[in-house]
Amino acid sequence: MQSKVVLLEEAKDPTTITRTNQSRAFPLRPLQFFVLFLILVLGLGFSVLCMYKTRYFGARNVMTSVQFSLQQCFEEPSSLERWIRPPSGLLHNMSDKELLWRASFVPQIKNYPFRRVPKIALMFLTRGPLQLSPLWERFLKGNEKFFSIYVHSLPSYKANFPPSSVFYKRQIPSQVSEWGKMSMCDAERRLLANALLDISNERFILLSESCIPLYNFTTVYDYIMRSSYSFIGSFDDPGPCGRGRYNYNMAPEVSIAQWRKGSQWFEVNRRLAVNIVKDTTFYKKFEEFCKPSCYVDEHYFPTMLTIQAANLIANRSITWVDWSRGGPHPATFGKADITEEFLKKILEGPNCIYNNQPSSVCFLFARKFAPSALEPLLEFAPKFFGF
Ligand SMILES: *[C@@H]1O[C@H](CO)[C@@H](O)[C@H](O)[C@H]1NC(C)=O
Ligand SMILES: *[C@@H]1O[C@H](CO)[C@@H](O)[C@H](O)[C@H]1NC(C)=O
Ligand SMILES: *[C@@H]1O[C@H](CO)[C@@H](O)[C@H](O)[C@H]1NC(C)=O
Repeated sequence: MQSKVVLLEEAKDPTTITRTNQSRAFPLRPLQFFVLFLILVLGLGFSVLCMYKTRYFGARNVMTSVQFSLQQCFEEPSSLERWIRPPSGLLHNMSDKELLWRASFVPQIKNYPFRRVPKIALMFLTRGPLQLSPLWERFLKGNEKFFSIYVHSLPSYKANFPPSSVFYKRQIPSQVSEWGKMSMCDAERRLLANALLDISNERFILLSESCIPLYNFTTVYDYIMRSSYSFIGSFDDPGPCGRGRYNYNMAPEVSIAQWRKGSQWFEVNRRLAVNIVKDTTFYKKFEEFCKPSCYVDEHYFPTMLTIQAANLIANRSITWVDWSRGGPHPATFGKADITEEFLKKILEGPNCIYNNQPSSVCFLFARKFAPSALEPLLEFAPKFFGF
């Protein structure tokens, strides 16, 4: 029995078998000898076949690997480019949990090892069509290197922009969001997270389908890029629509003295955008304790950013809106409202503080404008907005 085991083990190497065969063949009985012979012949046969196979298929393997590495060169180069290139399309199947996690990646070295042209991410939170898009197209024309667009709309709405449009294929995977509810903040976080995937995006502006730009692109870009602060409205309102919406269950994460209110239409830099997407602490509190008549989209980000980074926010919005008509929604302007006097009034509003200095330019965007306003806006834009 023992010799058989030895033989089988040694059969892996035919030359060893030949040697053991000579020294041990004699005591073996004829059957065993025959088995040994068979193994020897088969072993030799196999090894010849193997050598042949190695040569033939080995060559094929080399060819396959050359093809593979050529493919790699074109499809997935192992260079810096691979890490800084924006995603080729905006469609993905990540869940919000996966997306927010991925978007929270932050490089630990402050200086970029390549020439980074900072872009502004224009994030449109809409229901259906973007009917003022021709005005935006004109505003953005020629500045393609300095912005990127993201559109979140109702999932049932299918956008239909031509390939020549700046809005073509800029729709992100969306979900239903309702005004005043957490699903609205979820949509805003989804927009921020998708925009964070492009490492060139430095400033993130939330806009709606009823927003319009008030200056030419260079003016808007410079104003935002040169600001030491992010433009998010944040103030302490002692009344029923401010502190009145605070719920004491939010303590200790949020005290009533820290409770803030502000317009939903924010502008944040990359650092604050990451703060928003990575937040789990405040999210839970606001989700549980700020439900209508506490309108979470007016409180969550202003309060959270005031607690985390009060020194980085301007406490004012750059989106003009008219609350003077009263009621729960601001005024919407249509064709008949768009006059020279009206536009002058928006542009020549009261002064504000910009980088700690008084400034006459306070609002870069305005809302709310109905689709019927498009025609007169396009007509007045060169004279009043400079584009
Ligand atoms: C995304 O697609 C991949 C591959 O098709 C699948 O394995 C994964 O479960 C999908 N993820 C989600 C969140 O749907
Ligand atoms: C944009 O507007 C500013 C100020 O009105 C002007 O000085 C500048 O030339 C304009 N830029 C372009 C590219 O039109
Ligand atoms: C914004 O308000 C906070 C207090 O809520 C303050 O600490 C901060 O300095 C203000 N920002 C500016 C630019 O004034």
